[in-house]
Amino acid sequence: MKYNIAVIKGDGIGPSVVEQAMLVLDRVGEIYGHEFEYHEVLAGGCSIDEYGKPLTQETLDVCKDSDAVLLGAVGGPKWDSQPSDNRPERALLGLRKGLGLFANLRPAMIFDELADACPLKQELVEGGIDLVIVRELIGGIYFGERGSRETPMGPAAYDIEQYSEGEVRRIAKIAFDMAMKRRKKVTSVDKANVLDSSRLWRRVVEEVAQDYPEVELNHFYVDNAAMQIVRNPKQFDVILTSNLFGDILSDEASQVTGSIGMLPSASLGEGSFGMYEPIHGSAPDIAGQDKANPMATILSAAMMLRYTFGLGKEADAIENAVKHVLKDGVRTGDIAKPGEKISGTVETGRLIAEAVK
Ligand code: IPM
Ligand code: MG
Repeated sequence: MKYNIAVIKGDGIGPSVVEQAMLVLDRVGEIYGHEFEYHEVLAGGCSIDEYGKPLTQETLDVCKDSDAVLLGAVGGPKWDSQPSDNRPERALLGLRKGLGLFANLRPAMIFDELADACPLKQELVEGGIDLVIVRELIGGIYFGERGSRETPMGPAAYDIEQYSEGEVRRIAKIAFDMAMKRRKKVTSVDKANVLDSSRLWRRVVEEVAQDYPEVELNHFYVDNAAMQIVRNPKQFDVILTSNLFGDILSDEASQVTGSIGMLPSASLGEGSFGMYEPIHGSAPDIAGQDKANPMATILSAAMMLRYTFGLGKEADAIENAVKHVLKDGVRTGDIAKPGEKISGTVETGRLIAEAVK
């Protein structure tokens, strides 16, 4: 089969980690007889430099015409002085919205080989952390009405958090479907003790839960959820939450696994189309130095094979290759212990590609 992939390398370490993921995909293609055709387009800071804006219609169109998007990372200090609606991050929001990607899946798990990278006490994580955050991605305060107005305390700015029943229902279904394939537990996170939008969220989630009698549902307020993630992370299977809360909790959860350089993500819409990217950022401080960990992007490519192309066996092959090199002691700087030999981005990518079986 032939698959069309729009590739957005982006800024900072984006290009070097995406190149390694492409290398691994090509290896999978050779072994399993698939052809991956890449269509490279710009978004983020590099697009501002080239076209004056972070996301062009052409980039969006190329993505729409593809089967999936593979993205590195966008942003960097070079573009800090851009007005807020022309910052590199706007490209991400524009892609998510423009492609209708309302569901963001962010798995956080501990790789056995990296167990001692976890900053929590051993007894809290024994047996493994394996959770997935299902984050609503194109609604809420990120996309609500915004503006400024005068107040007695001086000029003010506002951003509105709003969720409709339909928006909550479709993301809740994704979370429950996911739970059915896992340990059958959903924790919905909101702030229903304060916010009306959260009370609507909770009511709709409970309605959706009626269709999934096998799934256990509980609700946490977001402040408690943030605490529970470090207090007892093993209690979580699927965490269902809004755009803003999901942004915050997914960074927290990634740190608990000890390895933000390891975690992939998928952003999905109604069909099988999806956008796949590591959850880490563009890390401008180490860009161009062959220091970045390409594993999160390589694992994102595995998610692409699994979720968009339905190639489960091939996805397993990539995940196993990553585990294989970890077992062999391959460590980029972010996951190496003091004194361990450090492997560069390119070498790590090559070793993973060679380990694909
Ligand atoms: C993320 C990022 C983005 C977000 C930024 C870069 C716009 O933090 O994907 O988590 O807030 O969604
Ligand atoms: Mg974030």
